[in-house]
Amino acid sequence: MAGQPRRRVTTAELVHRYEPRGACKRLFEDRSPEILLSGPAGTGKSRACLEKGNLLSLLNPRARGLIVRKTLASLSGSAVVTFEKAVVPELIANGTVAYFGGSAREPAQYRYGNGSTITLAGLDRASKVMSTEYDWIYAQEAIELAEGDWEALTTRLRNGAISFQQLMADTNPDIPTHWLNVRCNEGQTKVLESRHEDNPLYFDADGTMTAAGHDYIEGKLDRLTGPRKARLRHGQWVAAEGVIYDEWDPAVHLVDRFWVPKEWDRWWVVDFGFNHPFVLQRWAEDPDGRLYLYAEIYRTKRLVEDHARDVMVQVTGWVKGEQRREEDTETAAGVLAAVAAGRREWREPEPRGVICDHDAEDRATLERHLGRSTSPAHKSVSDGLQAVQSRLKVAGDGRPRLVIMRDTVAERDPDQVEAKLPACTAEEIPGYVWSNSKVKEAPLKESDDGADCVRYMVAERDLGAGEPRVRWL
Ligand SMILES: Nc1ncnc2c1ncn2[C@@H]1O[C@H](COP(=O)(O)OP(=O)(O)OP(=O)(O)O)[C@@H](O)[C@H]1O
Ligand SMILES: [Mg+2]
Repeated sequence: MAGQPRRRVTTAELVHRYEPRGACKRLFEDRSPEILLSGPAGTGKSRACLEKGNLLSLLNPRARGLIVRKTLASLSGSAVVTFEKAVVPELIANGTVAYFGGSAREPAQYRYGNGSTITLAGLDRASKVMSTEYDWIYAQEAIELAEGDWEALTTRLRNGAISFQQLMADTNPDIPTHWLNVRCNEGQTKVLESRHEDNPLYFDADGTMTAAGHDYIEGKLDRLTGPRKARLRHGQWVAAEGVIYDEWDPAVHLVDRFWVPKEWDRWWVVDFGFNHPFVLQRWAEDPDGRLYLYAEIYRTKRLVEDHARDVMVQVTGWVKGEQRREEDTETAAGVLAAVAAGRREWREPEPRGVICDHDAEDRATLERHLGRSTSPAHKSVSDGLQAVQSRLKVAGDGRPRLVIMRDTVAERDPDQVEAKLPACTAEEIPGYVWSNSKVKEAPLKESDDGADCVRYMVAERDLGAGEPRVRWL
């Protein structure tokens, strides 16, 4: 480069294989200020954005890039994994790229030998990140963002180390009226439609489906139904027909995590399942009676006793100075014994009630393992649904009376994620639909486990004492 001393570097040849096709290939050639790769699940959108970000960092010394998602927790499980496993493994191995875990002054980032950096951030904790300037930004799963987030990101693009500045993003489609689709339709954001044929993992160059393609596309995506299938198999921006909670608006009802004051009442709500998800929700109720879903277990193929242990591990912690012994957290009984011995303590208030779906055997098992009684949920469907609908309405004070926090699950169920099914309650709600949208009597019995719990929770608080607690002999 002119004006700079030439350095002799002897390096072994480095080989990285990546062949982008279709929309992914066009992304590499495009310099639009805002560009979105939209398409069904698994077409290679994220990989393409990350490969482009890496290439820009290698080719332009001192370039600053930013990879963001709505929350930091969701980013660590997605973009970071693809980046390290598929995009830069060779560069990490030979020392060209190093990960820096972040400090009080600087956020987590990848650092390149040429002075380029790629910062990682969740918009839930972004103040440090948003006070800096970048050359390119990649926003992953951009439908999760609010339009205000997007606009704030565009103002950060003026570092000037690359000849153009770009906000690139990828997403699966959502409803047609989503701000991001509107922005694309109005031409403010350029959209590239990505399809499965673009991904060499699933299609050969001549258009034949690979074995992995048969497994994923036919084995998983073709089995989806309704709007999920239209969006995740075919990449269409479609509305769900007959949505039950049409008041649900993620910009209003899905909120960033905050530490719940310890004075607020807690409730646990359980829906049993093995092949379908078992759901155990933890709710807080503020002094005005508003309900907040702040944590949950949402998991298939585990036994009730394992869930009992998991929740007890989540709600308790070691007393200062105590250490784990072999038997301490293996079972719920072990956790309870450690609590009784004063070695573990509750980290949040004990629940005022544990409200359960009716399965008698599972309820008995859960009671035995938790060492506490449970009560049966108020199961009548239509008044329960109406009670939830009315809580979702924004009240006179500008707030709804029920919200869900982001990232309620400590671990996303890998089987649900793989099958592109909901992995937490918030992901169920937009697809919680009537089984017959003309009659509007009952919800479709599909991906309804968390939504059922929401209904039980609200019914418990708003519909009186639930079913009579009388045993009929
Ligand atoms: N050009 C390519 N060559 C080889 N493998 C690829 C290519 N593009 C993507 N893949 C692989 O295909 C898989 C899916 O890719 P990716 O995660 O980028 O898809 P996506 O479109 O972002 O999916 P989703 O919509 O689910 O987020 C990943 O394992 C990725 O590494
Ligand atoms: Mg992706």
